Amino acid sequence: MIELTNVSKTYETGNKAIKNINLKIRDGEFVFIVGKSGSGKSTLFKLLTRELKATSGEITVNGCDLGKIKRRNIPKYRRTLGVVFQDFRLLYDRNVFENVAFAQRVIGASNSEIRKNVPEMLKLTGLGAKYKSYPNHLSGGEQQRVAIARALINQPQVLLADEPTGNLDSYNTHEIMRLLETINSMGTTVVVITHSKEMVNEMKKRVITMDKGVIVSDDDSEVKEISVMPVNGNSGSRAKGRSRRRRDDGA
Ligand SMILES: Nc1ncnc2c1ncn2[C@@H]1O[C@H](COP(=O)(O)OP(=O)(O)OP(=O)(O)O)[C@@H](O)[C@H]1O
Ligand SMILES: [Mg+2]
Repeated sequence: MIELTNVSKTYETGNKAIKNINLKIRDGEFVFIVGKSGSGKSTLFKLLTRELKATSGEITVNGCDLGKIKRRNIPKYRRTLGVVFQDFRLLYDRNVFENVAFAQRVIGASNSEIRKNVPEMLKLTGLGAKYKSYPNHLSGGEQQRVAIARALINQPQVLLADEPTGNLDSYNTHEIMRLLETINSMGTTVVVITHSKEMVNEMKKRVITMDKGVIVSDDDSEVKEISVMPVNGNSGSRAKGRSRRRRDDGA
């Protein structure tokens, strides 16, 4: 579960990138976050990875309060997340197998675990035949698959991706989105920031739209069901946020 309550982030420059956001993403959901350039999507992403700390408000991810987490516990927290970026961020002097195995070595997995887990993950991500290849010899779509395999190898509860298809053509965008959908169907919560309107329209998942640091729409189906009663005549994300919390309080 990811929950943001009245979260704001103001950069040192005075730039208010996130303004009083309320948001809840349940376990096992697949959520798109969309919005114009500069609307605060990556800032929200960095708040969730705890690269940034919120200026005010509360963020909890899988029961962990990110405002209270001690610096020394941040790496442990990050291991509960899988993180994927537009620019892949692979180790270019290591082959595909080693790129994925590296994430396992970091958490102290044994060689026998690595020999079992990595081939399974490469198979899932469609890279079984490429395990010896170096990233420079792979297509963009394949490189992103390696990044996704690496993000998933330690079985995170949540996969966060910031524009994972931003450098890919339409074919590879489809392939990566299908892979994310498969991963989600296996139980991982998936949060994807994207500019790809085509994919968002096609995949029929929950879509959160940001603009100038606020959530301007959120077609959360569960919230829709419980939002039939108008909240002070308001519509939009803030009213939805309130009704969602009220339901939870009573549940
Ligand atoms: N390190 C920073 N210091 C100051 N302001 C920043 C910093 N990073 C981002 N901003 C500002 O915060 C706002 C939100 O930026 P953010 O990167 O979150 O947008 P975004 O929605 O991810 O945009 P894009 O679609 O272009 O990636 C913008 O006005 C941006 O200029
Ligand atoms: Mg961004």
